[in-house]
Amino acid sequence: MSKTLVGIIMGSDSDLDVMKKAGQILDKFLISYERNIISAHRTPDMAHEYAVNAEGLGLEVIIAGAGGAAHLAGVIASLTPLPVIGVPMHTQSLGGIDSLLSTAQMPSGVPVATMAIGNAGAKNAAILAAQILGVRFPDIREKVSAYKKEIAEQVIEKNKKLQDEWCHTKGS
Ligand code: RP5
Repeated sequence: MSKTLVGIIMGSDSDLDVMKKAGQILDKFLISYERNIISAHRTPDMAHEYAVNAEGLGLEVIIAGAGGAAHLAGVIASLTPLPVIGVPMHTQSLGGIDSLLSTAQMPSGVPVATMAIGNAGAKNAAILAAQILGVRFPDIREKVSAYKKEIAEQVIEKNKKLQDEWCHTKGS
């Protein structure tokens, strides 16, 4: 789909390696997205501008990754009716618990769909974005179903390999 539907934002370029995982999943589902570095604390005006313009620009879901006092997703969610998915970054000082709690513990009225810390969270953010879009776009929904089959087959294959190795060990 060529129209840009997802906005990926992150608080710093130090979040980029993790947030690339979200982009890779969206690429797999052929969902167009844009990426921006925007900080709730260092560039609050930019965060405000991004959030109030997102809907008008045609975005349908926002994925926001941030670490530490991770307010980015919450600030964006406070300013847009679009669904916001938060990805808490791992941190040196507190292991990402700080990011997780500051992303998840939103006051009533301003939800942020908070994912796991780090890479798994970034991937899941993209899958959830696809699932949200899939309500309206059947082709995206089909891609999510195919992905679920794919990861199930990977587990089945790994289990088969384990059983083969086990039989081989017992037999020798
Ligand atoms: C947050 O502070 C960013 O999201 C990042 O995870 C963290 C550290 O940023 P840098 O000091 O590495 O730029 O705003």
